[in-house]
Formats: sequence, C-alpha cells, structure tokens
Amino acid sequence: MCGIIGYIGLRKASEVLTEGLKRLEYRGYDSVGIAVVNNRQLEIKKDRGMVDEVSSALQFTTVEGNIGVGHTRWATNGVVCRENAHPHFNEKKTIVAVHNGVVENVSELRGMLEEKEYRFSSDTDSEIIPHLLEENHKTQPLLQAFMETAAQLKGSYAIVALSTEDTGERLLLARKNSPLIIGVGRGEMFCASDIPAMLPYTKTFVPLEEGDVAVLTRHGYKIFSPDGSEVERRQITVDWDAELAQKGGYPHFMLKEIFDQRHFINETIASDISSARQLIDEYEKIDVVACGTSYHAGMLLAYLLSEKGKISQAYIASDYQFIAKPGKKTLAIAISQSGETADVLQALRHAGDSRKIAITNTVGSTITRVSDETVYLNSGPEIGVAATKTFTSQLAIVSKLIYGKQRLEPLSGLIGKMLEKENQIKEIATGLAGKEHAFFIARGMNVPIAYEGSLKFKEITYIHSEAYPGGELKHGTLSLITEGVPVIALAPRDKALPKLFGNIKEVKARGGMVVSVTNDGEVEKESDYSVRIPEGLDPALYPFALVVPLQLLAYHVSVLKGINPDKPRNLAKSVTVE
Ligand code: G6P
Repeated sequence: MCGIIGYIGLRKASEVLTEGLKRLEYRGYDSVGIAVVNNRQLEIKKDRGMVDEVSSALQFTTVEGNIGVGHTRWATNGVVCRENAHPHFNEKKTIVAVHNGVVENVSELRGMLEEKEYRFSSDTDSEIIPHLLEENHKTQPLLQAFMETAAQLKGSYAIVALSTEDTGERLLLARKNSPLIIGVGRGEMFCASDIPAMLPYTKTFVPLEEGDVAVLTRHGYKIFSPDGSEVERRQITVDWDAELAQKGGYPHFMLKEIFDQRHFINETIASDISSARQLIDEYEKIDVVACGTSYHAGMLLAYLLSEKGKISQAYIASDYQFIAKPGKKTLAIAISQSGETADVLQALRHAGDSRKIAITNTVGSTITRVSDETVYLNSGPEIGVAATKTFTSQLAIVSKLIYGKQRLEPLSGLIGKMLEKENQIKEIATGLAGKEHAFFIARGMNVPIAYEGSLKFKEITYIHSEAYPGGELKHGTLSLITEGVPVIALAPRDKALPKLFGNIKEVKARGGMVVSVTNDGEVEKESDYSVRIPEGLDPALYPFALVVPLQLLAYHVSVLKGINPDKPRNLAKSVTVE
C-alpha cells in the first residue's frame, strides 16, 4: 500500500523524507512526492515513477525547511499520473495532506465541497482531505477541524496533514484501518506507515490505535481518542539495526533476505510459543486465516494440525467471511508478516468471539492488538515485496508449534547448504527465463511449498505459473504439457514419492522439462535439471530444504529478464485495502 512519512525537527526535512520514502518504497511505487514548509510557503514536488528516479529528476533534497510530509503511492483511486500523486493540497496551497487507505464516501463529500466551489485537481479520493480540512477550519481551530475531518471520512485512512497558517508548527495525524506509527526523537519527531523508514533516527515508537488523532511538534506528541480526550499509547522499542533495512552489498533486498534466512531462523526458533501452544491444546477446531505467502504457511499449519487430530482448515482470509462459521468453540490463527493486511483483519473481525492467535513479524501491529496471543517471527525487517525470510520463519513457527524446538536445531545449517546451490540454480534459471508457463507439483505436506514456489515465480518473473498436488495434473493441466514446458517437481523421498514419481513420468512422456528438488536417484535420472537436498534429512524439515532453491530460482529468472525483483509491477508488500 502507500507509504507515508512525516518529519518535524531541525534537520533538513526534504532529506529525511526522501530517505524515508526509499525505505518505504516496498509499500507502493507508482508515484512519489514531498511537501515541505519553507518560509511559511509550501514547496511541493511530486510525479509518477519510483523514488530514486523522481527525487533526483525533481531535486527533492534541494528544498529547504524543517517540517514536511512525503508519500509513495500504490494506486487505488485514479490512474497513475502526476496530478494523482500525493501530497494533495487546497487551492490556496496552505494545507497539505498525504493519505493511505480508501475514502468510501468520496462522492458524497466531493459533491458537497464542489457545491461550495472547491475545485479539485486530481481523481483521487485523498484530495478530499485538504479541502475538507480547509472547510472545517473556517469555523473552528485547526486541531478540532482536523478531528472533524477524520470523523467525516468513511473507509480507511492513515493521514498526515499540516497547515502553513498554523499558529504552532505541527503535524496532524489520524489513523483508521491503516497503520501509522510515531517515531520519538530528541527535539524532533517522525511518523511513518512502518518502522524501517524511521530506523536511522530512532528506536522508540508509538503505534497509533484505531480512530486515534495525534499532534506532533518538535518537542513531543499528544494523542487523542475519537471523542477528543487525550489518551496514552504504549511506547515500543525495537532492537532492529538500521543496517538491516539496507542492502548490505547485495544487488537486491530479495537476495539479501534469502541469504539472511541462515541467521534469522535461529531468532525465530527462539521465539516464545508457549501460550499459543497452550491455547491450541485447548481447542479441537482451529481455523487458520492468511493471504498470499502467509496463506501457504497457513496451509502447512492446518495440514499438520489435522494430522494431530484437530479439525483444521486454512482459509484465504478475504473469503473467510463468506464461507466459514466460526463460533466460540473455534480457535482462529491468523498469519500475517505485516500484521496489517486488511483482509486478515476483516477475517479476524468475522471470527468474532473466537479466541485468536496472531503469528506476525511486526511488533505492535494491529493484528497483535486484536488477538489474545501473539507469536513473533523475529525475522527483522523484510523490504523485498516478495516474502522470503518471513515465509521461512512462518514455517519455523508452524513447525515449532507442532514438533517443538529440538527438531528445528539443524535449520540454519540446512538453509546454508541449500544456499550453496545458488550457482547451479542460476544455470537452471537460464533454461527457464525464456518460457511462458511453468507448473509446480508436490504431494502431501510439501504441496504448500509448491504453491509458494509458484507464487514467488509468477510475482517476480511475470511468467504464468500454477501449482498442484501432482495427482491433479492428469485431471486437466496435462493438456498444457507439451515439448519443453517446465514442471518443477518437489520430490523428496517420503511416502508420497512413488505417486509423484508417476506424475513426473507423465510429464516426461509428453516432452515436458522436469526440474526436480529431490534426494532420490531415480527422480534425478528422470529430470532435465535436479537440485539435491541432503540425505537422511528429517522429513519435518523438507519444506525448508525445498523452498530455498525455489526462492533463488524465481530471483535469478527475474534478474535474467531484467525485472527488479524487489518491486514487481502492480504489487505492494503490505495490502491495507480489502
Ligand atoms: C501482499 C504481499 C504478499 C504477502 C501478502 C500477505 O499481497 O505482496 O507477499 O504474502 O500481502 O501479507 P501479510 O503481511 O499479511 O503476510
């Protein structure tokens, strides 16, 4: 989704904002802009394009001034163009605002304002905000006017606004269903959609809660609940190093994050799961809700819980409200790297009175506040849009919940071994980069890894790909397997292998190109390319051994095709609209 940053202090705001926007770009990257107050005048620079490109073309950092806001956009309302880029402002250019979310009652509000002769210069819902604030400010002080503006908006929002006519220099913040976090500095204050944007300056943060409005001055902050009364919110401190949100010598964040898995996996398996495990023991029926990559970790969890005799199913979070009937006897487990995915939060609302466990990477995120128990992934910040290390961490939490910690001790070494295959995988990538389709197959508990491999592949290579339990190929997809069509088979030696081996032969018989990840000699012989996983590996660890080569494969095909794997087209890392 969109990334927001705000700064007030003594530094050059344009530099803080530009740096912050680079760190927020994973949230959206179709347009970017900043607005800084310089001598009581607003200087606004914005355009379509990525942060680096636009900020150097428009020379963002030449703007003087110590208070401002910035925004990187992922279009929801209105095409990608300069006019629709944020920040948005009123006609007099005295009020400016950045917004993440969707204003649902935009036509009603716009109609009302147009009747009063307000003129709009964009097609966005967000532009409502500065005009509405101007209108409300006619009859009341700025803060009250801002509170009323927030109260008039239906839908979701994280907003940062400011007025050059303000008596004291302030940033005005509001949040509802979209994340917004205050960064607490000394003699300076920050706010942003996510923590990494502020990491170079502070480690102390205050996540706003639903409906909160806040005021930042250079010297501090005040938070108000929707009824206008001042409230206290919990401060959190993170021990993430600002370097973690940098590429550290790797060409892309994604590659760095794939290699980081060796280290972070140990942090993950040290995570405290005891209360969550206790809760799981108390329930017979367990619904797992998640989206995208996290859903694949959820599939494995539901599979393993079912094996343990629970009644468990993984649901795509956005559909949960239409197909599931959770009740008090259901335990809901939500998996979300960001902890802010709107579809997941909606699913948890649908879970109503059920007890809830959150599995997330983000301290203080919304999902943690609406859940009874939280398990943290401890993966450090993940910037690449395609989730890699957080997925492996999710698998590790899932596995720890089922098997306990001891069986996971070899993980770091195992991941290290699989990473050593990078050169071989690069070669395989050369054979795949020119393809139009790819299919991923597996059986049993490795099926979620086939889904994840396929998702990773299509997300960043733009090659059409699908995944199936191997047995399903013959029920339709085999019609697409012709000479040279790649089928990636996850084929570790387990009870399902004889069946999967049959599926591999079906593919070969039709001229398909088989790429296997296996520890079986026969499968290797049938394969055009094969990546070996270690002999004698505990089958509980197969998913980890299988997923690393698939991440590297997607990455290298993407790079070979000249795509930036960190920022695939049309996608965003944290999706805060339903
Ligand atoms: C987006 C991202 C995916 C991610 C999904 C769920 O679609 O592009 O990579 O898996 O959201 O995100 P979450 O933060 O809930 O795990």
